[in-house]
Amino acid sequence: MVKVGIVGGTGYTGVELLRLLAQHPQAEVAVITSRSEAGVKVADMYPNLRGHYDNLAFSVPDAATLGACDVVFFATPHGVAHALAGELLAAGTRVIDLSADFRLQDAEEWAKWYGQPHGAPALLPEAVYGLPEVNREAIKGARLIAVPGCYPTAAQLGFIPLLEAGLADTHQLIADCKSGVSGAGRGAKVGSLFCEAGESMMAYSVKGHRHLPEISQGLRRAAGGPVGLTFVPHLTPMIRGIHATLYANVVDKGVDLQSLFEKRYANEPFVDVMPAGSHPETRSVRGANVCRIAVHRPQGGDLVVVLSVIDNLVKGASGQAVQNLNIMFGLDERLGLSHAALLP
Ligand SMILES: NC(=O)c1ccc[n+]([C@@H]2O[C@H](COP(=O)([O-])OP(=O)(O)OC[C@H]3O[C@@H](n4cnc5c(N)ncnc54)[C@H](OP(=O)(O)O)[C@@H]3O)[C@@H](O)[C@H]2O)c1
Repeated sequence: MVKVGIVGGTGYTGVELLRLLAQHPQAEVAVITSRSEAGVKVADMYPNLRGHYDNLAFSVPDAATLGACDVVFFATPHGVAHALAGELLAAGTRVIDLSADFRLQDAEEWAKWYGQPHGAPALLPEAVYGLPEVNREAIKGARLIAVPGCYPTAAQLGFIPLLEAGLADTHQLIADCKSGVSGAGRGAKVGSLFCEAGESMMAYSVKGHRHLPEISQGLRRAAGGPVGLTFVPHLTPMIRGIHATLYANVVDKGVDLQSLFEKRYANEPFVDVMPAGSHPETRSVRGANVCRIAVHRPQGGDLVVVLSVIDNLVKGASGQAVQNLNIMFGLDERLGLSHAALLP
């Protein structure tokens, strides 16, 4: 049994970790933290977990208790893992961070986008970007994982086959992405209120969103050189889901794109390339650790349109985090993650 700690257990990604790990045969949650709900039993706060964690209660984060775990997930705002990860790694505990703390390899770029100095630049060289479809071998030996963001997961998985094959004009890539409201976390904010977010849709952060440098970093790696990316996120009136509509001009119209995508992901347990002409729906991945992708070339022109959907809380966060745990500990990658999506 892998002994698991979770820092930030009351948030949406924290409770999603609990839901997924409840079905995991080789992992056991030993510690779960919340400063605001310390002492409260997990199942009293989240009744969907009754019968699974009846003796587990939230506690205040404590490095010694967390350091007795085999692995600790950080499901916290940025900056928290910076402060604690070093101490846990020194105690021999592995760290899987769901926040953005270790996703950007450049500490100065991180400071620019997050408005504060990077809190643990010395750990960056060993941080592995936890996108298994790209970094599986590095994840196997890693002590510190940076779980990709939700928009970055949907966008990178959609663009990567084109870029790795050298087929896309890298000067102008466009990621037009929509997210459900749970992407903003559980904290109270006016913009997340039902009356504000319901029956409406809006773009935000068009001049620059924090996920832009992360997506660009991954696309540069896939392309082997610089990329020009326009990323426009939107808030949509649904609870879970990311829908990414990705545009790229292809430099060779003769390539069978359907077959290219099918081959790239043939051995990936959590990427589903749908039949040609498909339109994946966010509800087809709700609650499941799956990215469904369809590739189109409208009217046979130069412009390729890739549609990529994930559940932001599962393949976009906690499911991907559990996938990383499985790979790090030499377990079957699908443990705890093999259930189908909820539909309707
Ligand atoms: N929501 C998504 O779809 C999504 C997707 C991918 C990645 N992420 C990332 O995952 C992280 C968590 O997101 P979330 O949506 O689950 O957030 P959330 O709903 O706002 O929850 C944050 C959690 O962190 C704890 N926390 C806050 N400040 C802390 C501190 N200084 N020290 C220790 N614990 C602290 C909170 O509990 P207490 O305050 O009670 O301690 C709470 O349990 C964020 O970095 C987010 O960017 C989120």
